[in-house]
Amino acid sequence: MRKNPVITIAGAGSLRIPALIGSLIYYKETLPVAKIILFDIDEERLERVKAYIDLTLKEYYSEAEVLFTTKEEEAYKDTDYVLCNMRVGVDTMRSVDEKIPLKYGLVGQETCGPGGFSYGMRSIGAMIDMVNTVRTYSKDTWILNYTNPAAIVAVALDKVFPEDKRIMNICDQPYSMIKSFGKILGEDMYDLEPRYFGLNHFGWFTSLKNVKTGEELLPKLKDYLMGHEFKPFNAEQRDPSWLKTYKNVNKLMQFFPEYVPNTYLQYYFFAEEIVKDSDPNFTRVDEAKLGREKKVLDILKKAGEQGNLTDIPLMQGEVFGNLMVEVVDSIHNDLNKVFVVIGRNGDLIPNLPEDAMVELASYLGKEGAKMIPYGEVKPFYKGLIEGQYAYEKLTVESYLEKDYTKALQALTLNRSIVDPVKAKLVLDDLMDHSADYWTLEKKEL
Ligand code: G6P
Ligand code: MN
Repeated sequence: MRKNPVITIAGAGSLRIPALIGSLIYYKETLPVAKIILFDIDEERLERVKAYIDLTLKEYYSEAEVLFTTKEEEAYKDTDYVLCNMRVGVDTMRSVDEKIPLKYGLVGQETCGPGGFSYGMRSIGAMIDMVNTVRTYSKDTWILNYTNPAAIVAVALDKVFPEDKRIMNICDQPYSMIKSFGKILGEDMYDLEPRYFGLNHFGWFTSLKNVKTGEELLPKLKDYLMGHEFKPFNAEQRDPSWLKTYKNVNKLMQFFPEYVPNTYLQYYFFAEEIVKDSDPNFTRVDEAKLGREKKVLDILKKAGEQGNLTDIPLMQGEVFGNLMVEVVDSIHNDLNKVFVVIGRNGDLIPNLPEDAMVELASYLGKEGAKMIPYGEVKPFYKGLIEGQYAYEKLTVESYLEKDYTKALQALTLNRSIVDPVKAKLVLDDLMDHSADYWTLEKKEL
């Protein structure tokens, strides 16, 4: 591997990428990169971020070579790291995933419940194709996947490429939460080392230690969360729906105070209330458009019109971007820092299926993720995780085998659905809206 890596950003037209560029700039002394390749198959999406990113890199990162491309070959031919962040079906389909379930009184969320299933059915094929393409050029390129639903994508890639040791699936939510924990506890987040177990968007923090002092801080954190509103310190998660999401961590802990749950667990425990609270005509995709995305788009537009960066702030990736760069840094420079990542269970949690793709604290170095064995989980969590894992596995199998029955079983197993009548209604409706991406042969009862 080269001293200074080449990094490809796949799905570079996403409005989250300008902040990732900010992170690459922020970390350029620690992790100098030789070349940044911005790749998106959608030219229009790439165009909307291009002027700003180009100007920014020229101004703050003139050492790095930069390439914008819509061609797979240029993106993957000669690169060390692919940071994959694609959204098959873009916001149009995110909207479908979030709104259709609400018609049946089911949670409308892009990664959990029926919406996550639907998004998964779109992402699996595209991600398999991507890995195949990257591997035609090199077996050594690291594929760091942030494409959602990461839980489903991870299971699919593990099934199709079981021997490939250079694919890693990562989610920024544990990192985002640790950042908030740091603020609450008055600690530098980089001094905090977590222990965590579960599946992606379905897990719990069980320990949080200050590595410098050795102090176990989870009891203090739990005390705080039992009595104070949990507020996100991630600036990207302060829209009203995110504030409610964080508050539901407080609520869930009133029932089960043992560990600190991932924010995404709310969709499985409080589904009914969340549905009642949802507006079928205005879901998270709409809120994001008016909030976070509008701010980004305004900056991009201004940069494009002006042709320079006068009075334009540098977007810094507070969470998502920083995590991505820190992960590359830890691998590239063999730092063995601890991150929460997704990987095959094996016997890390001996009382869960060997082939489950679990999310655990892991050391990241040049050999990849060394996941830290967790030990057995207690019956409550074991039951929850096994049900959710069966849902993930059946979703992937239904896609690969084109099996409608497995899709129906998957959705029925999902805790946010449970009722097979609703599972069928939502499956058929989502499928009717997804003809451009996937289909199964419908079975009438
Ligand atoms: C968190 C999750 C990601 C998800 C994102 C959605 O960061 O870990 O998996 O993509 O939130 O955020 P949004 O603000 O677009 O709803
Ligand atoms: Mn995530």
